[in-house]
Amino acid sequence: MTSAAQLTSLAYAEQFIPEDEARESARTTGAELGAPPIGSGGGAALRLLAAASGARHVVEIGAGAGVSGLWMLEGMPEDGVLTTIELEPENALRAKRSYAAAGIAPHRTRVITGRALDVLPRMNDASYDLVHIDADKEGYPEYVEHAIRLLRPGGLLAMDNMLWHDRVADPAVRDETTTLLRNLGKELRDDERLIVSLLPVGDGLFAAVKRDTATRRR
Ligand SMILES: C[S@@+](CC[C@H](N)C(=O)[O-])C[C@H]1O[C@@H](n2cnc3c(N)ncnc32)[C@H](O)[C@@H]1O
Repeated sequence: MTSAAQLTSLAYAEQFIPEDEARESARTTGAELGAPPIGSGGGAALRLLAAASGARHVVEIGAGAGVSGLWMLEGMPEDGVLTTIELEPENALRAKRSYAAAGIAPHRTRVITGRALDVLPRMNDASYDLVHIDADKEGYPEYVEHAIRLLRPGGLLAMDNMLWHDRVADPAVRDETTTLLRNLGKELRDDERLIVSLLPVGDGLFAAVKRDTATRRR
């Protein structure tokens, strides 16, 4: 049972790092477009992962209006490039505008408009430092397999919504999406290719490091 004090702490942590004007504006746009942005707690965690790993080559599935992209770009080195895949042309356009409004140099972002499963197969193996998945939930199992293929050994996988509005943790909730995400999390927890953690920020940010299978270390 979660106490009121624990809920207060979670809310405090979620709001701990305030968003700047560019992210606030992208957040408003994302909500208007029906492309719900990552929360600020999840965004700050993404920025941390990008900074800690020195991620220069980042892939995102689901740009929305660009909130998560802005967080990651802030953590990446100045020569880092974000490639983000977005199905909806309007969302892709808004993501580009959000990056520009935040002063991100155009060569640092590549927004690919298209269906993730059409784009991902064209991307190179073991070439990326960080992959963030935040698109249609039905696609997550296939996106994860592509992400593991795209990541270099030691690279990071991040997936938003892995607690899915507090539904995953409740075994009585068995709708299709909840069951899919619950099962996926458990499968990946036991996947020898990964070292995983389910971070209780926002809607649940699943994070994992791809092991170096050649050495059995990272
Ligand atoms: C939750 S929103 C992303 C929010 C964004 N990451 C942010 O923090 O601002 C999900 C996005 O995934 C996109 N999407 C849905 N299905 C997709 C697919 N098959 N391929 C690529 N993008 C997809 C949607 O159009 C939507 O913009």
